[in-house]
Amino acid sequence: MGSKIIKLGVLVSGRGSNLQAIIDSIEAGKIPAMIEVVISDKENAYALTRARNHGVPAIFIDPRKFPRKEDFEKAIGDELEARGVELVCLAGFMRILSPYFVNRFRNRIINIHPAILPSFPGLHAQGQAVEYGVKIAGCTVHFVTEEVDAGPIIIQAAVPVYDDDTEETLSARILEYEHKIYPMAIKLIAEGRVRIEGRKVIIDGVKKERWAVTNPPLEI
Ligand code: GRF
Repeated sequence: MGSKIIKLGVLVSGRGSNLQAIIDSIEAGKIPAMIEVVISDKENAYALTRARNHGVPAIFIDPRKFPRKEDFEKAIGDELEARGVELVCLAGFMRILSPYFVNRFRNRIINIHPAILPSFPGLHAQGQAVEYGVKIAGCTVHFVTEEVDAGPIIIQAAVPVYDDDTEETLSARILEYEHKIYPMAIKLIAEGRVRIEGRKVIIDGVKKERWAVTNPPLEI
């Protein structure tokens, strides 16, 4: 992928705050990327409005118009390829992609998930974390494979879970870091620093820092 401007396609279904973070990073010159198209499976997704507000082509593809899931995904794939998209970013896209699509864009699809995978895959990850009583939660950017929320991990962020947290309060704390690590992951890929080895991601030029986070803190 090299250190040129990488062409992105972003798939969305909803409010699009991660899309916004990517747009803002690109506009601020922080990542060498360009969004060629935003595609939604929901006509009224606010993400489409966000894209259009920034002059980014945004289209709705209606899944109900296609008899089979693969036909719908083929329409998305054709649109992405016609625009020369090199990296597909799932940003709140609420559908599980079939092996057909994963294979068509093998190692070129990434997703953001609001948990420290492999803990709490699937829906309501933040609610699952609160319910379970973990003390540390967070988010993950990973490559997409056939298995849901299980592809090679690129970057993770950790946040504390407080005793009085609800799904909503924890979601908000995690979201702040989603908006930092998603653009960061795209930047690393665009710079050609990311490679997949088996189920691991190796990133060039990462300083080894010695650190740990505890919750509660060691001094209380
Ligand atoms: C985020 O929490 C993301 O981690 C999950 O879906 C949510 C999308 O939010 N995959 P937004 O549409 O980016 O605001």
